[in-house]
Amino acid sequence: MLSKKLLRAKRVKNDEFYTRYEDVKAECDNYRSHFFNKIIYCNCDTADSAFVRYFRELKAKGLIRDVWFSGGLGGADFRSSESIERLKQADLIITNPPFSLFREFMDLLIKYDKTFLVIGNKNAVAYRNLFTQIKNNKIWFGVRRWTGGMSFVTSDNSIKDVPAIWFTNLEHSFHPAPLRLKKSFNHLEYEQYENADAININRTTDIPNDYCGVMGVPISFLEKYNSKQFEILGLDKDFTYDKGAGIVNGQRIYTRIFIRKSPCE
Ligand SMILES: C[S@@+](CC[C@H](N)C(=O)[O-])C[C@H]1O[C@@H](n2cnc3c(N)ncnc32)[C@H](O)[C@@H]1O
Repeated sequence: MLSKKLLRAKRVKNDEFYTRYEDVKAECDNYRSHFFNKIIYCNCDTADSAFVRYFRELKAKGLIRDVWFSGGLGGADFRSSESIERLKQADLIITNPPFSLFREFMDLLIKYDKTFLVIGNKNAVAYRNLFTQIKNNKIWFGVRRWTGGMSFVTSDNSIKDVPAIWFTNLEHSFHPAPLRLKKSFNHLEYEQYENADAININRTTDIPNDYCGVMGVPISFLEKYNSKQFEILGLDKDFTYDKGAGIVNGQRIYTRIFIRKSPCE
């Protein structure tokens, strides 16, 4: 087992991933109209970050009002009063925060009701506060697709692939179209959870087109989620009788999101 010290070192090392300029540009270019005349705060960035470079270019072209960043050598802690003051004053928060503090980072954005565009791990969708906002259609995902994750530059200049996605509450025009569901429900193919009144779905493409009850789907469903087609009801632990992960065939299965077709006749 790893000692606490080693675990912490590993976590800090996992935080030192730098976003590539092309990834920042490919995503941020979709929101240019939102940026006009705005102050952008990159609160986990030094002067050489791809985010700061990108926004300095926009500033030079008169396309944003200003870009602020947290500063040299890691800069101001995003939780410090100094940084929170800037966060309150800025119009938009745009960055790739440390993965190990992502939960706290999102809590802060939600608390101060900020408009943002940030990178996080796919699995972070199950963080309670973040999940509630996604469920209520207050937070959604960026334009970039989920498959393949994203590549980042590490502190020793190698490339690391991470299952990362963009989270935002900025409007964009690439919301998923309703899924075209081909399968119909039958009792033999679709298994019931042993600890919840719902059926288990292992792949989004297997969602039946004629089932009105509760369905447990993998996290990756969210990439295809269209709020006119489905209603998000909760996480697995909100639905299971024992408040744990779903059980199918005697086995606990990986995190599921519980949904229902909307409307359903
Ligand atoms: C995943 S890296 C991304 C860096 C940069 N935003 C980018 O996209 O290239 C997260 C950065 O946050 C910095 N960091 C770690 N803890 C922080 C904190 N409490 N407040 C602000 N920045 C922090 C780390 O030093 C690291 O450079």
